[in-house]
Amino acid sequence: MRVIVTKNYDEMSKVAARMIVSQVILKPNSILGLATGSTPIGTYKEIIKSFELGIVDFKEVISFNLDEYLNIEKENSQSYDYFMKENLFNHININKKNTYIPDGMSLDILNECRLYDKKIFEAGGLDIQLLGIGRNGHIGFNEPDIQFEARTHVVELDQQTIKDNARFFDSVDQVPTKAISMGIKTIMHSKKIILLASGKEKADAVFEAVHGLIRPKLPASVLQLHPDVVFIVDEEAGLRLDLKEIY
Ligand code: PGA
Repeated sequence: MRVIVTKNYDEMSKVAARMIVSQVILKPNSILGLATGSTPIGTYKEIIKSFELGIVDFKEVISFNLDEYLNIEKENSQSYDYFMKENLFNHININKKNTYIPDGMSLDILNECRLYDKKIFEAGGLDIQLLGIGRNGHIGFNEPDIQFEARTHVVELDQQTIKDNARFFDSVDQVPTKAISMGIKTIMHSKKIILLASGKEKADAVFEAVHGLIRPKLPASVLQLHPDVVFIVDEEAGLRLDLKEIY
């Protein structure tokens, strides 16, 4: 595991964007795993800047998002589909037909989950997966006590996650309680993984993910087992890390 501690959010975003841009320059038909939430927004802004400068071309890229709420229409501004268009896809030349997000409105959710993993597999597997981390240590919507061997599946959101995500809704009762999420197994199959964290409210989760026991209670701790993972965290999120103890 590599850990990069940056001065602040902006620097974290620049470092992460450089890694993703370099991935696409070196392999123009990269398969990117993407994330939503507040944390990656700055990274997406930096990626858009590189695209506008002509440094990188997304026309051959395929993307798969980590998760989507259940029963929220794509057109709804709370959907992750909407988020991705607003924050990235509408601003780069990726072919929208090649941007996959689980369909939370599917009438056959179990089949949707199965097909999602199949599509990732058939595309050749994820080259790089971008992750945030929840205060409870979740990655994607893989909440505490998840089974590490799960592939894409339906999840019940943890109360902490519902509270944390209420800021994006008018009230906490409007936050969906279920979602489709790539499973830990799907994520761990990505060739490279970048996890981003910013702010002191993430410091405990980052500490546990890096130094804690590998356990389903702290889903991000499983990343210690990945051969090519980098945590890019700002000083506040990295507050509790002991950089001498990271292997
Ligand atoms: P955030 O969410 O970026 O909005 O803090 C991260 C996550 O829950 O994975």
